[in-house]
Amino acid sequence: MSEKILIINGSPRKNGNTAIVSGWVKEGAEAEGASVKIVDAARLKYKTAGCCSCYGCQVSQQFRCVILDEATDVVASFPDYDLVVFASPVYFFGLSAQIKMLMDRMFSLFKFSGGKTIHNLQKVNFALISTCGGDLHDSGVELVDETIKKITHFIGKTHKSLLIPSLVPAFEETEKKEDLKAKAMDFGKKLAKW
Ligand SMILES: Cc1cc2nc3c(=O)[nH]c(=O)nc-3n(C[C@H](O)[C@H](O)[C@H](O)COP(=O)(O)O)c2cc1C
Repeated sequence: MSEKILIINGSPRKNGNTAIVSGWVKEGAEAEGASVKIVDAARLKYKTAGCCSCYGCQVSQQFRCVILDEATDVVASFPDYDLVVFASPVYFFGLSAQIKMLMDRMFSLFKFSGGKTIHNLQKVNFALISTCGGDLHDSGVELVDETIKKITHFIGKTHKSLLIPSLVPAFEETEKKEDLKAKAMDFGKKLAKW
């Protein structure tokens, strides 16, 4: 069971499609008894735009980025959760820049030394919510899914994903989609039971 879930919303649109779908996933997971926190990655205060490759985290004994800003605490908290869900719109066939800035700071949760990799994510599972305007095959959403797959494989895990195609920018239209709401809530329930 995933009792404690963190959703990282990487959309710059506060009330956009990704936020709406993430909210429904949260509702579904909470209905199964999970506690769910949503972090708005686009509105965190960053001291640098992404990882600045200082390698300070590789020298440090801690699994914590040495740049002290709001992203540091969020990333360092990943091992406290049963499940971390990345939520991103597809922007130019990939993850949004806003979520990538946060994800690159995950370097600090790893120690790469002498051909060995150590990390502190043994107890955490990962999932993906991704929304896009195009269809499943041409939009780039499969590339986003593949990126999360690579990350989770790297730490010996598999991920679950909810990929939502064909959404128009007008989020009022998305809010009306009862079938999508049911699908997202089901996904949330599935995550809570994972
Ligand atoms: C800068 C930008 C780039 C986009 N690139 C793609 C794309 O490559 N493929 C696609 O299917 N949709 C693309 N879209 C559409 C969004 O993925 C889609 O509308 C998404 O649901 C927006 O989520 P949001 O409201 O959370 O931002 C793009 C939209 C923007 C603003």
